[in-house]
Amino acid sequence: MTEIVVKRGPAEVARRTAELFVSAAADSIRKRGRFVVALSGGSTPGTLYRLLSGPDFRNRVEWPKVLFFFGDERNVPADSEKSNYRMAKDSLFDRLGREDLKVFRWETESAAPSGVASAYGSKIFAELGDQPVFDLVLLGLGPDGHTASLFPHSPALAENKRVAVENWVEKFNGYRLTMTFPVFNEARNVIFMVAGGDKKDAVRNVIEGRGDPKEYPARYVRPENGRLIWLLDEAAAAGLSG
Ligand code: 6PG
Repeated sequence: MTEIVVKRGPAEVARRTAELFVSAAADSIRKRGRFVVALSGGSTPGTLYRLLSGPDFRNRVEWPKVLFFFGDERNVPADSEKSNYRMAKDSLFDRLGREDLKVFRWETESAAPSGVASAYGSKIFAELGDQPVFDLVLLGLGPDGHTASLFPHSPALAENKRVAVENWVEKFNGYRLTMTFPVFNEARNVIFMVAGGDKKDAVRNVIEGRGDPKEYPARYVRPENGRLIWLLDEAAAAGLSG
């Protein structure tokens, strides 16, 4: 089931996402005793993470029962300004100020990209079993239609076995690290948080497009049984026909 929710601006998108995060966490913890989430990177989620660790939301989640994973990571050290882990650490983990958070990051310092990806896959299997089902996957969307680090025409688009892979991205002339579509499509809830007019063409092509999904990889995100929610601000939704 796909839902499209349009909010006025980025702040309203973040707030609605925070509400959905809280309710998904409560539901998962009630049913399974824990909440397994794959965080998104980039800049958009920063507002969400600051909200979640702020006075309106910080006391509405049982943080010790949350398992934090990352849908993707850059091939940089954990303390790099470009690191998705570093962004979440600064805007969420450190602000929560707890010693009992369960955070599973890509250990980019430990090996070459393929080794980092294999190790991360092992972490996922160790915590979730051999059919990993995330309770919530947060995703962003690039203007080129990429999501996580699944870029147009990149090798990882075809990955249908491994849950975590290194992905060569031509335009960066380098590797990214990313979970794969099979993982995202097994999730119970997937939320795309998208804001800004620079995304409106990608939003239209992903949601309404008919062309080659390799051009707009986010189109491969089609949860089998899970809930798919597009949380858009008005600028990002401006290209939709509905
Ligand atoms: C990353 C993200 C990436 C991001 C989009 C949107 O590592 O950068 O995983 O997929 O979600 O590029 O990024 P912005 O939110 O910065 O526009």
